[in-house]
Amino acid sequence: MEEKNFFAGMNHPANAADLTDAEKKHIPVISSPGSVKSGEPFEVSVTVGSIPHVMEPAHHIQWVELYAGENFLARVAFTPGFTKASATLTITLEVAGSVTLRAVERCNIHGLWENTADITVG
Ligand SMILES: [Fe+2]
Repeated sequence: MEEKNFFAGMNHPANAADLTDAEKKHIPVISSPGSVKSGEPFEVSVTVGSIPHVMEPAHHIQWVELYAGENFLARVAFTPGFTKASATLTITLEVAGSVTLRAVERCNIHGLWENTADITVG
């Protein structure tokens, strides 16, 4: 059997309705309000994952990035042994309508993983 190449691109769960423990440890969890007002700051938290991932020098989450649609908002880099793979960001969106927040994280062994959350900006 050929070994999976985790760095070939974005990793996705084989079955989103039945995640494996490894998938639960890598898929970012986004916590945000369901609706916000245009131009008013609000908090978005990103934690990797629904089961905590180890943060050891040999195996850790290197960073998380947050996007609104195609717009890059922020990147938070983590130092293993000193941090947990979790960040709370204050963002402001000056648009109207539905916006897809996208979180991307990189594990030094298991590559890139993403998740999305839709919010309404009015
Ligand atoms: Fe990992």
